[in-house]
Amino acid sequence: MYSEKVMDHFSNPRNVGEIENANAVGQVGNAKCGDIMKIYMDIEDNVIKDVKFKTFGCGAAIATSSMATEMVKGKTVDEALALTNKAVMEALDGLPPEKIHCSVLAEEAIQSAIEDYKKRQGIELKSDNKCDFCCKKCHDID
Ligand code: FES
Repeated sequence: MYSEKVMDHFSNPRNVGEIENANAVGQVGNAKCGDIMKIYMDIEDNVIKDVKFKTFGCGAAIATSSMATEMVKGKTVDEALALTNKAVMEALDGLPPEKIHCSVLAEEAIQSAIEDYKKRQGIELKSDNKCDFCCKKCHDID
């Protein structure tokens, strides 16, 4: 039911933990199940030098958190903002349909951390690929 990659990232998650002096921290809760993900980033010159996460959630949420942190490490903040839950799921060779909502947690936590970073830097947030007020309906369509 789960791909080998999902099982690997669930059993041996990468980047678990906290960054003590993180300059970007994001936390989100999954509206569908109440699970929570917190993400810490060390960003220098708009590049994500390090990223760690803590997820209180199911195996799919842990696997997607692990893969998503691997995918944004070393990327610029704008590249990381463009990461979608779809891309993370593809990198994991898919998720069962009933677990798709779990992958949204990682995408939103990364966005939340970067928003925190931009706020701290006094950078205005661009909303070119996001609505001003997220109703989360787009995730349901995905
Ligand atoms: Fe809550 Fe998967 S069931 S994140």
